[in-house]
Amino acid sequence: MPLPRLIHIKRVARDDALISPGDKTHITAFIKITMLNPELCTEEEVRTLVHAFYARVRKDDVLGPIFNRQVHDWDEHLVTLTRFWSSILRGTGSYTGTPMQKHAQMAHLDESLFERWLALFLITTREQPNQAMGERAYSTARRIAQSLWYGWQMQNAPGTMPHDLRLDQADKTTES
Ligand code: HEM
Repeated sequence: MPLPRLIHIKRVARDDALISPGDKTHITAFIKITMLNPELCTEEEVRTLVHAFYARVRKDDVLGPIFNRQVHDWDEHLVTLTRFWSSILRGTGSYTGTPMQKHAQMAHLDESLFERWLALFLITTREQPNQAMGERAYSTARRIAQSLWYGWQMQNAPGTMPHDLRLDQADKTTES
C-alpha cells in the first residue's frame, strides 16, 4: 500500500474513533477526551449559543432549506443539540445519539456545506459574551466537522481518497 494512503487511513481511524457510526460509546469517549470544565459555562449559555446558531442556520440561503426540509420539530431538535453541546462543553452526559450515522446518511452533503456550517458557527460563537465557551465550542466544532466529513466521504464516496475540509478558510470568516 502506498505510504500516503496508509497515513491517511490511520488518520481517518483516529478521527473516526471520535464519533463512529452507530456507536454511542465513541461520543462519550470524545467528550471525556476534551477534558471538560463544568465551570466553563452555564446551561443557559449553552442554550443561548445553540438557539442563536440555529436561528442563523434557518435563515441561511444555503443551509436553511436543508435543515428545514429534514427537521420537522425544531423545539425537539434544539433540545437535542443543546444536550449535545452541554455534554461537550459542560460534561453533563445528557446527549445520546449517533451524529456520524445521521450525517453520513444525508447523501446531498458536500465540503462547502460543512465549511459554511463552521463559518456560521464561528460568527455565532464570537457573539457570545462568554468567550472562553465560544472558543472552546468552535475549536471542538472544527474537529467534529472534520470527523463527520471523513465519515461522510467513507460512506458516500468509498472509491475516492477522503480529503480535508479547508478549516483555515472557515477560521478567517467575517460577517459580510
Ligand atoms: C454540512 C453541515 C451540516 C449539515 C447540513 C447538518 C445537518 C443536520 C440535520 C439536517 C440534522 C437533523 C437530522 C435528523 O434529525 O434527521 C442534523 C443533526 C445533528 N447535527 Fe448536523 N449538520 C451539519 C454539520 C454538523 C456539525 C459540524 C455538527 C457538530 C459539530 C453537527 C451536529 C449535529 C448533531 C449533534 C445532530 C443531532 C443528531 C441526533 O439526532 O442525535 N452537525 N444535522
